[in-house]
Amino acid sequence: MPNKIEKLRLEFGKALGEVKDQASLESVRVSFLGRKGGFLTEILRGLKDLGPEERRLIGAAANQFKGEIEARLAEAEKGLQDKPKATIDLTLPGPEIKIGHLHPITRVIQESVCFFEKMGFQTREGPEIETEWYNFDALNTPADHPARDMQDTFYLAPGILLRSHTSPVQIRTMEKEKPPVRIIAVGRVYRRDAQDASHSPVFHQLEVLMVEKGTHFTHLKGILTAFLEHIFPFSFKTRFTPSFFPFTEPSAEVSISCPVCREKGCSSCGHSGFLELLGCGMVHPNVLRNVGYKSKDLTGLAFGVGIERLAMIKYGIPDIRLFYENDVRFLRQF
Ligand code: DAH
Repeated sequence: MPNKIEKLRLEFGKALGEVKDQASLESVRVSFLGRKGGFLTEILRGLKDLGPEERRLIGAAANQFKGEIEARLAEAEKGLQDKPKATIDLTLPGPEIKIGHLHPITRVIQESVCFFEKMGFQTREGPEIETEWYNFDALNTPADHPARDMQDTFYLAPGILLRSHTSPVQIRTMEKEKPPVRIIAVGRVYRRDAQDASHSPVFHQLEVLMVEKGTHFTHLKGILTAFLEHIFPFSFKTRFTPSFFPFTEPSAEVSISCPVCREKGCSSCGHSGFLELLGCGMVHPNVLRNVGYKSKDLTGLAFGVGIERLAMIKYGIPDIRLFYENDVRFLRQF
């Protein structure tokens, strides 16, 4: 019998060691001290059948063990109560999920395309590797024109180059489609320019072309002004200055009043009060002839604008290189 108590003591120690919570503690209590079938309860109950000497010895040992069990159970219970409970606070905000967003260049492209789609213009595409014919000749730019200087663009092979503007898409479209033509083209263009705060050897342009009977300069002014008002979130004046492009006649350069100084002159506008923005004009008759348009009373308007330039003015970005560096501290702001 004393051996049995010793065995029970070991089992109790083991069972108590595995207790993790109130429920498992309670089941240890029941299996040792439970009124029905508790290990120790059974021993105490069996005392009456023993002889006086044995009853005294075993009774003492069993009662001592009972006291021991009660003390250790109480101790374990206290330990459980002191243990910090793992709780979930459902009112706390969840972890922040970082979602990406559109690059500022993509945003300006999408806003531009959206504007012209509503005006009934369709999008056309052209290759970035072009022939001299589409990039220059067909656009009325003769071989001796300064824009054809080897310095100005990247030649891949004789007569093959990276397009220096999106204007060749005008030719590619008019060759395939009959007037009326109302199209835009957006894409990458390449120049042999050293990179600095306002130049990049690769940048994006938006080209706009409308050719149909009765098109005149007022349409050009109206469409351009509405477009710029759609893009820029501030009020400004537009200024059309006579200019030259081989593929338009007359040609104009468009500037807007400087949003920083409002024409007073500051460092962002080179103290001129205006920011040069884009080139435009009425499609040169030679260009219409080059694509096989024969009708004499056909006229057209065209313009080309750098997307980076629009985005820099729209968002007040001082350096074109910021667009390409992929620095999230910059990109996160848009
Ligand atoms: N292609 C010209 C450039 O890259 C911009 C331009 C000027 C486009 C006048 C036009 C235009 O369509 O009519 O500098």
